[in-house]
Amino acid sequence: MIRKSGGRCFIIFHLFSHEFVMTDRYAVIGNPIAHSKSPLIHAAFARQSGQDMEYSTILAARRLDGTWAVGTNGQSLEETPIIALQGFEAKVEEFRAAGGKGLNVTVPFKVEAWQLASRLTERARLAQAVNTLKFEADGAILGDNTDGAGLVRDITDNLGCPVQGKRILLMGAGGAARGVLLPLLEQQPAALFIVNRTAAKAHELQNQFSAYGRVESGGYQVLAERQFDVVINATSSGLSDELPPLPPGVFAAGALAYDMMYGRETPFMAFARQQGVSGVADGLGMLVEQAAEAFLLWRGVRPETAPVIAQMRA
Ligand code: ATR
Repeated sequence: MIRKSGGRCFIIFHLFSHEFVMTDRYAVIGNPIAHSKSPLIHAAFARQSGQDMEYSTILAARRLDGTWAVGTNGQSLEETPIIALQGFEAKVEEFRAAGGKGLNVTVPFKVEAWQLASRLTERARLAQAVNTLKFEADGAILGDNTDGAGLVRDITDNLGCPVQGKRILLMGAGGAARGVLLPLLEQQPAALFIVNRTAAKAHELQNQFSAYGRVESGGYQVLAERQFDVVINATSSGLSDELPPLPPGVFAAGALAYDMMYGRETPFMAFARQQGVSGVADGLGMLVEQAAEAFLLWRGVRPETAPVIAQMRA
């Protein structure tokens, strides 16, 4: 028979032990978020490396031109008290206050995350965007951007195409392009050309990143007669099934054509194949690799990505 005091002792012990073994919580925050593959990827990493963690999704309201576009409860702005709208920052704070350890951040909150972080890695500072937040023990919110490292790792390790000494063409001068520039330049390519429809935006990026390597920039018309070993599509053209105005002959022999989009063959990928390029890749490997970098930052363990990429393609 168990004595009353013994029972109390057990309960206290149980409460404490529960504290010690509490599963660490992470999530990806975005809008929309239901389609995100990150929970699957991180669950696979956790299983594989024996990490005790949970990973969920968080939908936050987006704010457009100063007004809330989506109230979490479907009410209009007039009906809804500001506090109930739960935009990005409120959701992050709620998650952190509940003991959350870190977040992945996706569209459209990467710039807000960059502004929210109280400490930034160098690559996040230059990207002006954050895709990974880590809540530090000292109360700081560390902001990192693992997109570029994920892209580089996919190209160099998974696709077996070292970037060092190569001629790189980066298409696009928006957030996606900016996010990968520093890690690409750290690989010491022979030169990196940023091309954009609006050439002025490409020139701006050139000015900001020239300190890190040989960077050139311009509009698509200046690409005639030029060839590149690695051509990366960081534009949003694939979303609208459009092809950036690349001239034929832009791919050097043995070139790699890489689209940062994943999920379907984009017009850029089809164009590269028509041009005889055999190394054509979508961004699924980058997606898994950027997740692996975030996992490493949070857990101190680098997961095996190859089986997870294979699983996602199956
Ligand atoms: P993201 O965050 O995805 O980079 P963004 O900041 O809106 O989105 O940038 C989109 C990029 O894709 C821009 O570089 C844009 O070119 P412009 O600056 O000239 O608008 C580029 N882009 C979008 N559609 C394109 C298309 N059909 N052809 C070429 N570039 C395109």
